[in-house]
Amino acid sequence: SEGALPYVPARGGIPVLRRAAADCRGCPLYADATRTVFGAGPAPARLMLVGEQPGDQEDRAGEPFVGPAGRLLHSALGKAGIDAEQAYVTNAVKHFKFAPVTEGRKRRIHKAPNLGELTACRPWLAAEVRRVRPELIVALGATAGKSLLGNSFKVTEARGALLSLAPGTELPLVAGEGDGDDGGDGHRHFLATVHPSAVLRATNRDEAFEGLVADLRVASGFLG
Ligand code: URA
Ligand code: SF4
Repeated sequence: SEGALPYVPARGGIPVLRRAAADCRGCPLYADATRTVFGAGPAPARLMLVGEQPGDQEDRAGEPFVGPAGRLLHSALGKAGIDAEQAYVTNAVKHFKFAPVTEGRKRRIHKAPNLGELTACRPWLAAEVRRVRPELIVALGATAGKSLLGNSFKVTEARGALLSLAPGTELPLVAGEGDGDDGGDGHRHFLATVHPSAVLRATNRDEAFEGLVADLRVASGFLG
C-alpha cells in the first residue's frame, strides 16, 4: 500500500494539508479513532517537535499534546527556556491507536503504532517538514526517531546529541517522500530525546524529567 501518499496535496500550506489529512485512509487507524490529529503551530518555524501519535485526549480535542504527556512536555520546554508557541508540534502517526475498550474503563489505552502504520503516515510528516522548514527537528522518543531516521534508530544511544545534516542534504526518509517542494536548502539539525509519556511512566520521574529538560536545553542552546 502507498499509505498516506495519495492523500497528500502537492501544493498548499499547513492548513491545506490539515484539511486533506482529515480524510486520510492511508492505513487502518482512521477506522477506530475519532479524528485525524494534525500538527499545530506556526509555519515556517525554527523548531519542530515530533511525538509518537495522539493519545486519548488529543483524539477527543483534535490537537496534539493537550493531555498529560503534553502538560509534561510544556513544563519541560518552559524549564529549558523554549517558547512552545514558537514551535510547530506534530506526531509521527496522526491517528490514535488504542487497545479494545474494556468495560468500566473511561480512558482508552494507547497502543504503539507498528512499522507499517509508521511508514504509511510518514508522507504527512515529510510534507509538514517541507512546509515548516524547521532549522531543528526534535524527535520525542523512539517512534519519531525511527520515522525520521530509519528503523534502526535508538533513542538511548542518540539522545541529547545535536546532529547536523550537511548543507543540501535532507533527512533521508523525508527526502524520499512525495513532492520535492522543499523551498529551503535542506540544511537541518536534529535532536532526539525521550518521549514525555516515558517520563510519566518512569520509576524515578524527577530524574527522567530532568533528563528530558537537559536534552531540551541542548535544543534551546542551538536556537539561541
Ligand atoms: N503523545 C504523543 O506522542 N503525542 C501526543 O500528541 C500526545 C501524546
Ligand atoms: Fe492516514 Fe496516518 Fe491516519 Fe493512517 S494514521 S489513516 S496514514 S493519517
